Amino acid sequence: MELEERRMKNTVVTIQKAKENKEKVTMLTAYDYSMAKLIDEAGIEMILVGDSLGMVMLGYEDTLSVTMEDMIHHTRAVARGVKNAMVVADMPFLSYQTSVYDAVCNAGRLMKEGRAQAVKLEGGREFAEHIRAITNASIPVVGHLGLTPQSLNAFGGFKVQGKTQEAAQKLLEDARIIEEAGAVAVVLECVPAKLASLVTEKIHIPTIGIGAGAGCDGQVLVYQDMLAMFGDFKPKFVKRFGEIGTQMKEAFQKYSEEVKAGTFPAEEHTFKIEDDVIEKLY
Ligand code: KIV
Repeated sequence: MELEERRMKNTVVTIQKAKENKEKVTMLTAYDYSMAKLIDEAGIEMILVGDSLGMVMLGYEDTLSVTMEDMIHHTRAVARGVKNAMVVADMPFLSYQTSVYDAVCNAGRLMKEGRAQAVKLEGGREFAEHIRAITNASIPVVGHLGLTPQSLNAFGGFKVQGKTQEAAQKLLEDARIIEEAGAVAVVLECVPAKLASLVTEKIHIPTIGIGAGAGCDGQVLVYQDMLAMFGDFKPKFVKRFGEIGTQMKEAFQKYSEEVKAGTFPAEEHTFKIEDDVIEKLY
């Protein structure tokens, strides 16, 4: 049987089963139709429409300026490209922090207008009530602990989290609290590997790590990072699985050279017309 036929739609149930069966879960970011289609066809189980799109697609220096409209626009495009992956959309800065009511309305918009299957929001115990209310509206919630980029200004920069006794204990408790509030999974970002492994053991929902070691139930990366599309930027936790940035730049340069030299388009790229049609033109 073809790989394509054997695949099944991934849902909260299949990722939970994967944890129970000790099978790793794969997640990558995507922000548009064509990339989502490629990632889905590669068999990746979850696609995150991350608010990282503010940085990697829109060129902002952080994620804070991303709007609900940005998220809905990109989530819709991703959802159109996906058959089997579970699409998770990030709740952007101030789309849920303001009130439980805003959290439910905006999560609902990501599902209703964006066609996401789940939403992700950053933070622990302070958003337990929000997670519970969104979950009660039948919208699955993925939590996000550790380095939470929307709190960049509160942290004073992008730093590994949970290193002190107190911070590690708080992170473990936050994981338990958001699980209890109804979260279906939790992203652990830039957390020491041993702490992430312990959290993974202690909670029953899947942990998806980024910079959190191999002990998590799954992994997520930003696709531009793992394809080396930004040559000069490589966080410690990123492995480059391709050198696509260089290949793309070379292809763009080759195209430019051939257009300027008049060698593209060649005969085989052009459409024909009978000579007598041309000859009769005046
Ligand atoms: O926005 C994003 O891409 C994320 C991942 C880094 C987990 O939240």
